[in-house]
Amino acid sequence: MKPHETSAGAPLGLRDVAVRYSGADRDAVAGVDLDVPAGALVVLLGPSGCGKSTLLRTVNRLVVPYRGAIEVDGHDVTASDPQTLRRGIGYVIQAVGLFPHLTVAQNVAIVPQLLSWTPEAIAARVDELLDLVRLEPARYRSRLPRELSGGEQQRVGVARALAARPRVLLMDEPFGAVDAIVRTSLQDETLRLHRALGTTILFVTHDVDEALRLADRIVVMKDGRIEQDGTPLHVLAKPATTYVETLLDAKDAVRRLSLLCARDALRNASRPVDGAPPVPASETLRAVLSRLLEGADAVAVVDDGRVIGSLSFAEIRAALVANER
Ligand SMILES: Nc1ncnc2c1ncn2[C@@H]1O[C@H](COP(=O)(O)OP(=O)(O)OP(=O)(O)O)[C@@H](O)[C@H]1O
Ligand SMILES: [Mg+2]
Repeated sequence: MKPHETSAGAPLGLRDVAVRYSGADRDAVAGVDLDVPAGALVVLLGPSGCGKSTLLRTVNRLVVPYRGAIEVDGHDVTASDPQTLRRGIGYVIQAVGLFPHLTVAQNVAIVPQLLSWTPEAIAARVDELLDLVRLEPARYRSRLPRELSGGEQQRVGVARALAARPRVLLMDEPFGAVDAIVRTSLQDETLRLHRALGTTILFVTHDVDEALRLADRIVVMKDGRIEQDGTPLHVLAKPATTYVETLLDAKDAVRRLSLLCARDALRNASRPVDGAPPVPASETLRAVLSRLLEGADAVAVVDDGRVIGSLSFAEIRAALVANER
C-alpha cells in the first residue's frame, strides 16, 4: 500500500471534558467541547499552563478526565483498551523520544512490530515512511538518533507516529526545539503530509505564527477553557475577547493586512473562481478579508478591467505569514 492510499482521518468529539490533577486546587481542563471533523488540522493555541497538552492527552488516554466524554471515530475512548487505542493514534512530542540504542528503522518499526506485521511488510513500510518525511532510506535507516540533526530526529518522530497508518495524529509542540528555518520547513512538511494522507491532526503550539501557518481552525485556550474557536482569519479579524486579540497580536496583524493590497497576495497559480465578487487589484487585503468574512469563498481580482486572479483565505493567510515582522 502506498502512503497516499492510507485510510482518511477519523473525526474527534470532546464533550464537557474536565481534568484535575491530584492535589491541584483547580481544573487543568475545565469543561471543553470540541469537534474536529475527519481530516481537519486543528491547532490548540494558548500560553504556557493553559491546558493544551492536558487536553491533547485526554484523546489518547494518557490523561483521564473526571468528567465528560471523548470519541474517536464515534467510539468512546474509555471503552477501548488504552494500548490498542494508542497504537491507532500517532503522537509526536517536542522531546522526540526516539530510543537512543535503536536505529532509525527500528524506531520507526516499533508500532508495526507490536502489531505483528511481517518483517517484509515492516521493512517496506519503514522505507516508504522515510521517503515520505524526505529522509533517503539508504542513508538514514541504519543510523542511531544521536547521528541525526534535531530536525532529522523530528522527522523520524513523525515517521514513527505515522507508521501504522493512524487516522488521528496528535502533535504537541513538535517543532519547539528546532531553529526557525528548520521549523518552517517541518511546518511545510506537515501541511504536505496532511494533504497527502488526510489524517486528522490535533496540533498544540503557543506560537501564533505556527498556528496561522498550519491551522484549518484555531482553538484559543485560556485557563483550561476554550476562549475562541474559528478559522485563523476569523480569529485574527474578529477576536472574541481582548485576551484573544492580545494573544494573536490581532491589531497588528489586521494592520499588516491594511498595508497589503490584493495584487500583493496573488500567486501565480490562483485561477478565477466562478461567481466570485470582483475587487480592484489595489484594494487592501483588510477589505478583501471583510468580503470573505461576509460569506464569499473567494474574490476575483480585477486590474484594468481584466480578472487577473482570485483570492481566498488561503492566499491572504500566506501573504500575512510571508510578511511577518
Ligand atoms: N502531571 C501533572 N501533574 C500535576 N499538574 C499538572 C501535570 N501536568 C500539567 N499540570 C498542570 O496542569 C496545568 C495545565 O498544564 P498543561 O501541561 O496542559 O499546559 P500547556 O498549555 O500544555 O502548557 P505548555 O505550553 O507550558 O506546555 C498547569 O497548571 C500544569 O501545572
Ligand atoms: Mg504543553
